[in-house]
Amino acid sequence: MLKDKDRIFTNLYGLHDWGLKGAEARGDWDGTKDILAKGDDWIIAEMKESGLRGRGGAGFPTGLKWSFMPKEPDGPTYLVVNADEGEPGTCKDREIMRHDPHKLLEGSLLAGFAMHASAAYIYIRGEFWEEADILDAAIVEAYDAGLIGKNACGSGYDFDIYLHRGAGAYICGEETALIESLEGKKGQPRLKPPFPAMVGVWGRPTTVNNVESIAVAPTILRRGAGWFAGLGRPNNTGTKLFCISGHVERPCNVEEEMGIPLKELIEKHAGGVRGGWDNLLAIIPGGSSVPMLPRSICDDVLMDFDSLKEVRSGLGTAAVIVMDKSTDIVRAIARLAQFYKHESCGQCTPCREGTGWMWRVMERLVTGEADKSEIDLLLEVSKQIEGHTICALGDAAAWPIQGLIRHFRPEIERRIDERQDNAVAAAE
Ligand SMILES: Cc1cc2nc3c(=O)[nH]c(=O)nc-3n(C[C@H](O)[C@H](O)[C@H](O)COP(=O)(O)O)c2cc1C
Repeated sequence: MLKDKDRIFTNLYGLHDWGLKGAEARGDWDGTKDILAKGDDWIIAEMKESGLRGRGGAGFPTGLKWSFMPKEPDGPTYLVVNADEGEPGTCKDREIMRHDPHKLLEGSLLAGFAMHASAAYIYIRGEFWEEADILDAAIVEAYDAGLIGKNACGSGYDFDIYLHRGAGAYICGEETALIESLEGKKGQPRLKPPFPAMVGVWGRPTTVNNVESIAVAPTILRRGAGWFAGLGRPNNTGTKLFCISGHVERPCNVEEEMGIPLKELIEKHAGGVRGGWDNLLAIIPGGSSVPMLPRSICDDVLMDFDSLKEVRSGLGTAAVIVMDKSTDIVRAIARLAQFYKHESCGQCTPCREGTGWMWRVMERLVTGEADKSEIDLLLEVSKQIEGHTICALGDAAAWPIQGLIRHFRPEIERRIDERQDNAVAAAE
């Protein structure tokens, strides 16, 4: 279990002042000028050595991503902070912005400096009214104190931070759709390459990072890469915010060490599964888009990128959705299929047509009104969508269904048999 001394988010539950005074008392903005004085190369090397992998879902190494930005830009370049947080089950970035906004602002400055950015845009989910107000106020505090803006922290570096509100579309969390939306256009993903580090906001080099990835950077740079890398396991380092929801006694957000066993995470922090561990049916370990794990796998699996990949799921956003035996597992996945159909931007044919098709089949599987051959057909179609779209929304729609078929095929077949038996009985 994570020791208190290793905790980054010391105001996760909002028990203390989120304002500048409170943040400074907790160690934020301490020696920021000295960190900047160590230089861009030092910051990037330290971030690489820390092993931090992006907290937005894909787990791409953060220091490496920053190093892709031009060292001598021929005009403005940008850091974009992805605060769209749309993945069902995920509610960690919200807590950072509510209770620790200065960690995000200090992180933006340090990241922006390391990648020679002229400004940061924080793209915040439209529904986050309260968080946007708090961030706005924190930005004003940081400008007034000379921490950002002209000659930020007295470093000689000029850096502006702008807050931009989205309008409530899941797709706008995808980094290139977000960039389109930021430019005032319809939020539809762009083809890659070119990647944002070459052609991003207004055609300029841009790096998009998740809120948590940026907010942990100041503590890493203050305490040292070795400290962060010493937590968790190789290639899966540091601490992580987990969001535990569903059929647990006490749903919560918690900061824990990467690689904590899933069972320990739930029993220590969320009061256990409702009705006890034996009442567990399945868990979605990383936000709605990753394949679920049946109880048998949940017993031993560790919560990090590599362990969850080994069991054909993923850490994703570390949103742990717990389902006990009262869950209609087929209906639960049908509901997710409806979500992805609703959120598809419609640009790519496999996603636009496929998400609706999969949802309609899923609805029939809920009631058993199907032929067993359709299970394999559904699996096949999900594989035609996965990897065949401009962005990963297609994958996100396919994976929950693939997980269901992999682990709960007998339950789907049982419903089909039951319906056919009932039809025969009714005809007799
Ligand atoms: C459909 C879709 C929605 C996404 N939504 C979010 C989101 O809300 N927040 C986020 O940080 N990343 C989201 N991502 C991932 C981003 O595209 C991007 O990988 C991430 O912001 C990079 O940050 P990181 O390197 O710090 O993890 C989404 C991706 C897809 C395909």
